[in-house]
Amino acid sequence: MLGLSGGCGGKRSAGIGAVELLRERSPPPRRVGVGTGSTVREFLSELSSEEWAADAVYYPSSRDSALLLAELGFNVGHPGTVASLDVYVDGADEVDPYGRLVKGRGAALLGEKMLAYRSRYNIIIVDDSKLVDVLGSKKPVPIEVVPDALPHVLVELESRGLHPRVRRGSGKDGPVVSDWGGVIVDLTIPSGVNVEELDIVLHSIPGIVETGIFIGLTDAVVVGYEGCKWKVERYQRRRGILARA
Ligand code: 5RP
Repeated sequence: MLGLSGGCGGKRSAGIGAVELLRERSPPPRRVGVGTGSTVREFLSELSSEEWAADAVYYPSSRDSALLLAELGFNVGHPGTVASLDVYVDGADEVDPYGRLVKGRGAALLGEKMLAYRSRYNIIIVDDSKLVDVLGSKKPVPIEVVPDALPHVLVELESRGLHPRVRRGSGKDGPVVSDWGGVIVDLTIPSGVNVEELDIVLHSIPGIVETGIFIGLTDAVVVGYEGCKWKVERYQRRRGILARA
């Protein structure tokens, strides 16, 4: 664990830790994928003062991140124009001891998973409140569903005991619709359910576009603590065409 002077919360600590990890990478990353959320904001605000970071192109996982990157003066690339990334940095809602994640509180899970999949090295940044023994134990698991598929998807998920709830947002009537036009549905995972099997089952239901269960996509987790302290956990990637190359 490292320490710095000055105060900061866990999210900022994780962001500082991620900048340290990036600084160590050789050659410096040139195509950087950027996740979504408040921890990513902390990371970007730390990164914006790094000189080397100005040479990279940044690919956002959501419109929110695209706007933030532009505001901070980063070079923004369109994610639809690049097949592989050197590194991807993102937050998470839950991280288990195997580096498996639940993501999607910000409804960006589809964009996030597409970037994580095509990136050669994935860094997850969380404060210590995100660490769990069992995925789905603290937060619901979000999925993205094609709007016309909602009726049968909801019936199917209810029958499997997953208590689907269509997410409704502040500032808008009706369901939360993602940047890709899908409806976000939050699932409650009964205890004892194997999340890897659940992920396969969910992907087999027509109309479910993607899930917030991220398995085998983590290389490093930076866990931030109060007081500018963090630790880095490293994992073996298991999935992804680029990881197998
Ligand atoms: C957005 C996400 C975020 O990465 C996740 O919700 C963590 O957000 P925060 O850093 O604000 O806690 O998955 O879809």
